[in-house]
Amino acid sequence: MSDIIRQLEVKREAARQGGGQRRIDSQHAKGKLTARERIDVFLDEGSFEEWDMFVEHDINDFGMADQKIPGDGVVTGHGTVNGKLVFVFSQDFTVFGGSLSAAHARKICKVMDQAMKVGAPVIGLNDSGGARIQEGVASLAGYADVFQRNVLASGVIPQVSLIMGPCAGGAVYSPAMTDFIFMVKDSSYMFVTGPDVVKTVTHEEVSQEELGGAATHTTKSGVADLAFENDVEALLELRRFIDLIPSSNREKPPVLPTEDPVDRAEQSLDTLVPANPNKPYDMKELIEKVVDEGDFFELQPDYAGNIVIGLARMEGSTVGIVANQPMVLAGCLDIASSRKAARFVRFCDCFNIPILTFVDVPGFLPGTSQEYGGIIKHGAKLLFAYAEATVPKVTLITRKAYGGAYDVMSSKHLRGDVNYAWPSAEIAVMGSKGAVEIIFRADIGDPDKIAQRTEEYQSKFANPFVAGSLGFIDDVILPRNTRRRLCRALRMLRNKQLENPWKKHDNIPL
Ligand code: HXC
Repeated sequence: MSDIIRQLEVKREAARQGGGQRRIDSQHAKGKLTARERIDVFLDEGSFEEWDMFVEHDINDFGMADQKIPGDGVVTGHGTVNGKLVFVFSQDFTVFGGSLSAAHARKICKVMDQAMKVGAPVIGLNDSGGARIQEGVASLAGYADVFQRNVLASGVIPQVSLIMGPCAGGAVYSPAMTDFIFMVKDSSYMFVTGPDVVKTVTHEEVSQEELGGAATHTTKSGVADLAFENDVEALLELRRFIDLIPSSNREKPPVLPTEDPVDRAEQSLDTLVPANPNKPYDMKELIEKVVDEGDFFELQPDYAGNIVIGLARMEGSTVGIVANQPMVLAGCLDIASSRKAARFVRFCDCFNIPILTFVDVPGFLPGTSQEYGGIIKHGAKLLFAYAEATVPKVTLITRKAYGGAYDVMSSKHLRGDVNYAWPSAEIAVMGSKGAVEIIFRADIGDPDKIAQRTEEYQSKFANPFVAGSLGFIDDVILPRNTRRRLCRALRMLRNKQLENPWKKHDNIPL
């Protein structure tokens, strides 16, 4: 017996060594942790149950018969994050560059299948040279098996990808279909075709980092949600993120007890909105002053800054926040911000997370680049996402809510449950000056008349009371009491039930 136990330990040790000390050292020299070290940082201590440690590939071509490394380039299993069950796969770059073989793919599929059965998130730690070149189509089939599972799991269990090394070619499409992509600065990159192919086809010279590094994807493409300084920071922030999300679509959002009083008044909010309607202010200040302990987990902070999205807690319970940001493009909705917020609204709706919307929006961004880029279809995504969402929807208009953008931003008309406004709210078809220049075009040559008409229009419409008189706004609230009023609204909505008509699936404008 003791011999067998010793053999088991020898086999385990071989698997733990991955591609060997030389390659582990090389991984460390690049500032990267190994697949197992990453799991150690990510999961609660001692919670990891590893599966398929002894799986090997079954390829004999290209000298692979005598190159079998137990585990075959990916460490898989389950464990906990602050007690919450999660499934994880962590690609091991020290083994064939973390490349994906049929056996490697089967290991990933196994944890995904089990996660679906028990209702727990799947977290992928990606660090891979792509398809295992020695395997050919068997590897491509393995990718497709993972893709299929990504799609079936979408909206059932949360899926998060943390890119910690290369992720190129068709391999990018698995992370792309997960709910969130996080990256590590300077050591990870994602692209469909690399710099060499780009050079051949388009004659552009571009580095890996410029083409698909973390900075590119968190500022230019919007593909990634967050970028972190190093592996450890990324894994610790991922733990914080897991704390905020439900385990599956069958669960309510997690609750974390808070010391922050529900009725905490914030006098400073009374003066947040400047008297001059053209002067910006920072919407994040409002978010941070309202949510529990000022703790806001912002997503995509450096992309489409005219809309702010992220998760926070109210009375301990997770909420999704969507807010126009007057500091960027005056808070206008454009293509990028509509897409950014629409996907987030849909994530919240999938996983029963109430949506809190803060509105200060002067409308959609005008211009040929927007129209040619398809703002009609992209803006419709956000409208569609809000309209189909059945989770609790609480909205606060702080200042402008103009035109179609008023309708879009979780208005009463899109089944907003509780819609509040501050006294500074202006709910109208457009700003007063623009409105007067259209309806009193004949007076344009007479500045006094225009000024008088503008004032008339301003005093009639630049307030929340017309909407209030029609029941489109449930109440006009004092800014300082915002936290109390929003918490109460969310509490009232805790057992909300609403269903959309049966359908195979909808046809959101893509
Ligand atoms: C097999 C691979 C591999 C791969 C790397 N290795 N990629 N083995 N299949 N795809 C091995 C290397 O042979 C090497 O083995 C070890 O991993 C480390 O690789 P290095 O090149 O030494 O590392 P580095 O210099 O850091 O470069 C990393 C890299 C490069 C940029 C990822 O390895 C690379 O370009 N690999 C090929 C990428 C690629 O073309 N993949 C296929 C893409 S097509 P030793 O024994 O020396 O340690 C694809 C299609 C997916 O993925 C389709 C899905 C539908």
